[in-house]
Amino acid sequence: MTTTIETTWLKRRKTHVPQGVLTAHPILLTRALGTQVWDIDGHQYIDLVGGIGVLNVGHNHPRVMEAVRAQLDRTTHTSFQVVVYESYLRLAERLCEVAPMPGPKKAIFFSTGAEAIENAVKIARAFTGRPAVISFRGSFHGRTLLTLSLTGSVSPYKQNFGPYAAEIYQSAFPYEYRGWSTERALASLESLFESEVSPKRVAAVVIEPVLGEGGFVPAPPDFLQRLRELTERHGILLIADEIQTGFGRTGKFFAIEHSGVKPDLVAVAKSLAAGFPLSGVVGRADVMDAPEPGGLGGTYGGNPVACAAGVAVMDVMRDEKLPERAARIGSVIEERMQSWAAEHDIVGDVRGLGAMMGMELVRDRGTKEPADKEAAGILAAAREKGLIVLRAGTHHNVIRTLMPLTIPDDQLMEGLDILGSALAEARSKK
Ligand SMILES: Cc1ncc(COP(=O)(O)O)c(C=O)c1O
Repeated sequence: MTTTIETTWLKRRKTHVPQGVLTAHPILLTRALGTQVWDIDGHQYIDLVGGIGVLNVGHNHPRVMEAVRAQLDRTTHTSFQVVVYESYLRLAERLCEVAPMPGPKKAIFFSTGAEAIENAVKIARAFTGRPAVISFRGSFHGRTLLTLSLTGSVSPYKQNFGPYAAEIYQSAFPYEYRGWSTERALASLESLFESEVSPKRVAAVVIEPVLGEGGFVPAPPDFLQRLRELTERHGILLIADEIQTGFGRTGKFFAIEHSGVKPDLVAVAKSLAAGFPLSGVVGRADVMDAPEPGGLGGTYGGNPVACAAGVAVMDVMRDEKLPERAARIGSVIEERMQSWAAEHDIVGDVRGLGAMMGMELVRDRGTKEPADKEAAGILAAAREKGLIVLRAGTHHNVIRTLMPLTIPDDQLMEGLDILGSALAEARSKK
């Protein structure tokens, strides 16, 4: 399918953009709407990626676009540190209404997910007066120094970008398929407390309720519940990184709600504002108020246009019942993935929560050797057939779905048909 135009832009990209920023699909996109995107040659693709989990309401949702246009006519930037504006206040109120913890809550906004995590850690340290933070192996929390330090995956994220921030400790994530049961993962945390850091020095534990980049591994509810008990016992704050799981994708507004656990702080970003750069931290008001005036913020944090988009996203989520839709989409995908697992040995595990579904590919079900190259081949074959989908996982062998939750049934079916045929084709070539 490569044309002269494509060759030209690929060459321009190679000449002027560093290889460090990897593009999964060699497509020059010109237009997007709902769940579909079009490239420079007019090829149409079904988008099961949604800008990496950013577009739960789909590309260019009319209500979001209308709110954005109205805000553009009013003001595009002032900085909340200079003057207060309505879209920030409204979004803070709306986020506090849905945040999964009891009592008074407060919210603050930034631009990227990494910034949200950085600030959640700052707030936790200010509140507890403690330095240490615990995260999990296989996790991904961002690409800034502190968030890379928290991230539990070397390739491609950590590479040789160290030295990393001090006082960060890592524990095993409950990844049952790779031998980490709830019991074993909790024992790993206890042993961290025995041999590396006293729980009295720990400000916070940061956890993704479902590992995102780490391969779509849901933490079992009993693990999250026991983690909550343990953190409460030691006066440690629990920070839920809901940057990829958030905003209805798992069937509830926040993934942690499935376990009944009430975190102290939640970091949000991605689908918060349908593609406008916006992130935030929402949490217990007493904790959020720990930093002294001037300690939090950022020139662009909570941009007025992005906040207006965020308020519209909240309306769409509620009015179109997107969390409920995510649960239905998830059961359709799961059924289809299970049928592929019954047919093809390469599908070692099917797992997920709501519409956040993934299948882990292995060369051998016994040894579980990761089928990373095969996963890449399936993605390329799917693209040739008009589907954009991504992989994840520490071993890059998990095919994951992050489609807009507004996806119409026929496009969902067509997308899954394409993925199924790409998988079957890859197996027959073996
Ligand atoms: C769970 C999680 N945390 C943090 C981040 C970092 O967000 P950003 O890329 O906006 O900095 C991501 C991004 O993929 C993520 O999935």
